Amino acid sequence: MLIKHVRANDPSSSEITPRSVFADRRRLLKAAAAAGVWALAPAAASAAKPARGEPIPNVVKWPKSLPEMPTAYDLATTYNNFYEFGFDKDDPARHSSKFKPRPWTVKVEGHAEKTGTFDLDDLIKPHQLEERVYRFRCVEAWSMVVPWVGVPLGDVLKKFGPTAKAKYVAFQTVLRPEEMPGQRLALLKWPYVEGLRLDEAMHPLALLTVGMYGELLPNQNGAPLRLMLPWKYGFKSIKSIVRIAFVENQPPTSWNIATPSEYGFYSNVNPRVDHPRWTQATERRLGDPFFSPRRPTPMFNGYADEVAHLYAGMDLAKLY
Ligand code: MTE
Repeated sequence: MLIKHVRANDPSSSEITPRSVFADRRRLLKAAAAAGVWALAPAAASAAKPARGEPIPNVVKWPKSLPEMPTAYDLATTYNNFYEFGFDKDDPARHSSKFKPRPWTVKVEGHAEKTGTFDLDDLIKPHQLEERVYRFRCVEAWSMVVPWVGVPLGDVLKKFGPTAKAKYVAFQTVLRPEEMPGQRLALLKWPYVEGLRLDEAMHPLALLTVGMYGELLPNQNGAPLRLMLPWKYGFKSIKSIVRIAFVENQPPTSWNIATPSEYGFYSNVNPRVDHPRWTQATERRLGDPFFSPRRPTPMFNGYADEVAHLYAGMDLAKLY
């Protein structure tokens, strides 16, 4: 484990796991070993020093990026949550080398003028790629600062012409148990799904992301296409997206299906509403020295000026 210095308030590395599944972890791991589920894994050593990805040309720097030092690349790419590749933070880097993120298509469905199956390049190429340094806050109370590369999600969605019936956008991750060993276990209901209200998806901070640190996304970080919503807990940032649907009703979301009392639909970073099992008022920044104090978590992860109006009048303790 790369950063683990567990203190009283830290959720353990797999706390986001639904309780029932976590309790059953030993049995699942045994079953996984017996079934040869991890046979796809390269040598564990390859996770320690991740290979660098392909550089992305023609990226402009977003003027409103955080003036903070990004988290070390090696940390952001080896301390991951991507249950399709396993439970532990180093599983995604260790078990994702066989995953093929190209060629890639995305199916666009639902209440929109234009729907169909689109090549990833056709979705992204008409837009200017930007590098945006965002704060990222995981629901497990750790955080990092990452230079993401992507295009505003709203700009891409607008091209499909959502109709008046489109109130929400639903997203789905690829289902490939043959390449994603975690999908051969009942860790979550597969495929992973997420959703946003249409106005959240259209917000200019919402980024449809194809890269990080100037390079194409590594498999473990959600190649080739993921969301990045800096004011929401990290689990809203669904990885390896293959389906986008404009829908009328609030769509189901993976963590809410797994443990509704712990993970809601909105999942906005909120230091005033604790997770039932730990505080959300403070966080540990990945890479901070061992004795550093925990940092206070700001409302909406520091993006309140930009996004608070989206939730005016809502009781955020109930709509968590
Ligand atoms: N997307 C899919 N498909 N599967 C996952 O398990 N984990 C989520 C989110 N997106 C997850 C996912 C969680 S819990 C977090 S914190 C972030 O991805 C982690 O992103 P990172 O690994 O790039 O830090």
